[in-house]
Amino acid sequence: MIKNMPDLKKAQVRRKHDVSIIENSLNIPEDMVNIGQNKYYHIVTYGCQANERDTETMNGILEEMGYTYIEDANKADVVLLNTCAVRDNAEQKVFGKVGAIKTLKKTRPDLIFGLCGCMAQEEATVNEILKKYQHIDLVFGTHNINDLPQLLKEALNEQTTIIDVKSEEGDVYENLPTRRDNHYKAWVNVMFGCDKFCTYCIVPYTRGTERSRSLSHILEEVKELKDSGYQEITLLGQNVNAYGKDLDEGNDFAILLEEVAKIGIPRIRFMSSHPWDFTDEMIRVIGQYDNIMPFIHLPVQAGNDDILKIMNRQYTIEQYKELFNKLKEAKVNASFSTDIIVGFPNETEEQFLQTLDIVEYCQFDNAFTFVYSPREGTPAARMDDNVPLEEKKDRLQRLNKVVNKYMQQQNERFDGEIVNVLVDGPSKKDKTVLSGYSQHNKLVNFKGDDSLIGQIIPVKITKVKTWSLEGEVLV
Ligand code: 5AD
Ligand code: SF4
Repeated sequence: MIKNMPDLKKAQVRRKHDVSIIENSLNIPEDMVNIGQNKYYHIVTYGCQANERDTETMNGILEEMGYTYIEDANKADVVLLNTCAVRDNAEQKVFGKVGAIKTLKKTRPDLIFGLCGCMAQEEATVNEILKKYQHIDLVFGTHNINDLPQLLKEALNEQTTIIDVKSEEGDVYENLPTRRDNHYKAWVNVMFGCDKFCTYCIVPYTRGTERSRSLSHILEEVKELKDSGYQEITLLGQNVNAYGKDLDEGNDFAILLEEVAKIGIPRIRFMSSHPWDFTDEMIRVIGQYDNIMPFIHLPVQAGNDDILKIMNRQYTIEQYKELFNKLKEAKVNASFSTDIIVGFPNETEEQFLQTLDIVEYCQFDNAFTFVYSPREGTPAARMDDNVPLEEKKDRLQRLNKVVNKYMQQQNERFDGEIVNVLVDGPSKKDKTVLSGYSQHNKLVNFKGDDSLIGQIIPVKITKVKTWSLEGEVLV
């Protein structure tokens, strides 16, 4: 049953309309209230932190209906894939999983299998699902997560795939139930959507217009998190620096960050920043408060002005450097990470070398590097491209070599130093050691007792590697 199909044309439109804040947006049909008793759900999350946060909301909604989380997807009654559309390889991973679940559906025909997130917002993907993947019971998008109980009801009652994807973003939904897995680190949404329309990026189409939460809702959430013992929050938005532009409250990200800092939660991070909206006042606040962590993610994307222009990034490399230097001055000894795309359509060798130059200049602590991936419906996907894929891959390798050199070099700053680590738990790679992140967002491994999990503790660094640090606990 097709309720709403995604529509690229509608998703491109930025209408002037007032976004309402819906205080209690969850509506569970009466016959669905306890439907999940003795039943299990499993959600697989792909992509960015916005998706991770959305999964926490869907966890909360499903648990409100009585479902219990289960680690093993094979035993679940509801399986959802919360997908990412930002690059083709992310989508291929999802299609692989969709194929694997087809086998599971054969042995468990009662299983409800749903696909949501950014891929669901893509017209082409949903058309492909309708043609090739009829074992999917439910497709819904990023704008109607709050409809999950009703959609689940329809999926349970209908034999055909339910498609309900809205291309016009909705309002800001407050007070949706949430189940956070982590009890000392939390994601806090400050805004949704993106209006920047970088020419390569699908996000403005999949997540809609920039919509900010009100300052009071955000501060209330942060206070609650602090009161329940959280040590760290990350303020989330596709472009947090644009916070408040769409509101009449007169608040911006500098005000928000300062108010959050004053609440006194031990660690504050924010993601992602766009150089376009970075003001001097934001830099001042970042510099002034010690609980705003000395780690700044500042995507540069490319090192050449012409490429930046065609990407619609709205800054030159000189302006990026100026901002970078101001931040470095305001937040002494801070770490910086960035995002970089190589092989944008028609990028010349010379232009690529300028990307290496900006990495040499900034000496980033970390960089997320990608080969450009055409996304259907974006302006860049319509550009001719004379750079062969092999060449793009070669550029990525050359870039990664330089990135890794500076990662190692920047880590060496901490050799022999004492750093404060928020302990996450046993290391993913070696269960006999604990791991956590320092203020500068360095992964630190050390031997220690499980009772340290969730605490911020001093660790003396004894060994430096490219991807992590090793140390000894000093408590
Ligand atoms: N191809 C490659 N990388 C992309 N990103 C966004 N869109 C694309 C694309 N089409 C990268 C950008 C962004 C990060 C989240 O993903 O570097 O900052
Ligand atoms: Fe995509 Fe640019 Fe928006 Fe980031 S700022 S989500 S790269 S359009």
